[in-house]
Amino acid sequence: MCGIIGCTGVKNASAVLYKGLLDLEYRGYDSAGMAVLCDGGIVTVKKKGRVCALSAAAEELRGTSGIGHTRWATHGIPSDENAHPHTAGKFSVVHNGIIENYAELKEELVSQGCSFSSHTDSEVVVHLLNRCYSGDFKDAVLHTVRRLRGSFALCILCADSDGFAAVKYRNPIIVGKGGGALFAASDMPALSGLAESVAVLKDGQIAFASHGEMDLCDFSGEAQALTFSPVPAAVRAAGLCGFPHYMIKEINEIPAAVKNTVHAFLEERCFERVTRAAKKRGFGNIFLCGCGTAYHAALAAAYSAEELLGIPARAETAGEFRGRKSAVGRSTLFVAVSQSGETADTVEAARTAKQRGAYVLAVTNVPYSALTSVADCVVPVRAGTEVCVAATKSYCGQVAALSLVVSALKGRAECRRTLSELQEVCSKCASAISGFSAEAAARACASSSGVYFIGRGIDYPVALEGSLKLKEVSYVPGEGYPSGELKHGTLALIDGGTLAVAVMTDIRSGEKTASAVEQIYSRGGRVAVICSPGCAPRGIAERAEFYAELPECGGMLSPIISVIPLQLIAYRTAVMLGRDPDKPRNLAKSVTVE
Ligand code: M6R
Repeated sequence: MCGIIGCTGVKNASAVLYKGLLDLEYRGYDSAGMAVLCDGGIVTVKKKGRVCALSAAAEELRGTSGIGHTRWATHGIPSDENAHPHTAGKFSVVHNGIIENYAELKEELVSQGCSFSSHTDSEVVVHLLNRCYSGDFKDAVLHTVRRLRGSFALCILCADSDGFAAVKYRNPIIVGKGGGALFAASDMPALSGLAESVAVLKDGQIAFASHGEMDLCDFSGEAQALTFSPVPAAVRAAGLCGFPHYMIKEINEIPAAVKNTVHAFLEERCFERVTRAAKKRGFGNIFLCGCGTAYHAALAAAYSAEELLGIPARAETAGEFRGRKSAVGRSTLFVAVSQSGETADTVEAARTAKQRGAYVLAVTNVPYSALTSVADCVVPVRAGTEVCVAATKSYCGQVAALSLVVSALKGRAECRRTLSELQEVCSKCASAISGFSAEAAARACASSSGVYFIGRGIDYPVALEGSLKLKEVSYVPGEGYPSGELKHGTLALIDGGTLAVAVMTDIRSGEKTASAVEQIYSRGGRVAVICSPGCAPRGIAERAEFYAELPECGGMLSPIISVIPLQLIAYRTAVMLGRDPDKPRNLAKSVTVE
């Protein structure tokens, strides 16, 4: 949801910004731009399209300080004009977030004679800075940020200053230093290789970087202490390592993601922390929230929690949770699930739950994220940096971490059993990846007018995830559905052009899903079956257009394995249809606006 970067004191600012923007491109890729301080003025280049569209123009820029941006459009279509930076008078600005009061500010600025050149909310910031400027950069920034409502991470250049300012409010900013240079960026991987040490800014802080020094203050201008620590090794992304796309590389990293998540659970004494909280609070119900894939992991965990613990457990998408009054209170365990830890809906849902008295437990892949600062307790997912916009290994890490939380709540013996089952799951994942050829299923998906993923019980969240993955990376339409629900309406869509993918890992519900499959066959529909050994009743597999048997799996860990063929099918379908699976159209990996 937009990536921003700033640097000062480097030899060639445009080269540093360009490299940083490539690292941040997962956050948005509809346009990009940079501005560099050059001979006492600001030179800006920006273009619709991916970061690489800037490469020739960026090479022409000479300067030691600058700011850059890669965009995911919220206000205004992707275009050269709407691309950041926005430059006016003495200032240039890049922004990640939404200025919620931009319309009233714009009206005021226009009435004062400002002329706007974009349709973005962000442009008000640069005009405000010019209005507030009377020769003091810091003063102009302070006056400006106090007028803004919404969420904003900003990097700002002023032609009269040699450095930049970085502002954080509800969107992330990490600052760094190394080799006499100073940096700021939306995330840590963009700073690895540039900075030797880093600091994560808090909401309401502004860093001013100039002449090799970085000063921190709050929005009132009061100085604050800034403590840097070394860049953690884990954030250094390793590149494609010979794989054609990050999506397939990251699917292959699932066994390591699960193994490392198990290690982290033990290393960080999560059993002790979870059970201590349970003892103190006596949890009477569990609420799980997340968005997209993280919601699907949460839903699977809700099914398992209710079955294992016998207390009400429900999952909801984070955006829905915030909008209504739910039964959340002091005896609620609220579990917020997010790969990035910065999804605005999820972070705000966690804040809301905390305000209502719930105990907030975060399950996240990013230890320094906004979500971890809200949570009472963090259970880490250690999937490593996930670059592909489509979540794969992080989902499996989330299911592993959530299963450990649920089993810890049951007791030590259950938790030990889950830990040992997870060891086996790692090797089963590896054989599910290597032993599955997605070609035939991908061909069937690519030629279908719609693909319906069906499952029952624990297989239903996996069906939802399979459907999301296929839509997201291949643009083939479809839906995830509880298999029992098809006959209540959606069967009307089934014909020879559609494909139904049935997921069956549970022997108890396999027969019910098989009835849905029969109903599809009877209406001329085509079926693919993904099942654990013995879970597909006789006569189902034989007639399937595509049939794949998973390694033995069942129960709450089964989604870790059963999702793998669905991820591989989505990936192969995308490649077959000539899509870029790593950067699907219209999307961004981190959605930091509500
Ligand atoms: O970083 P998060 O886990 O909070 O992200 C939530 C969703 O935006 C994310 O899972 C999204 O659905 C993925 N692109 C799906 O592959």
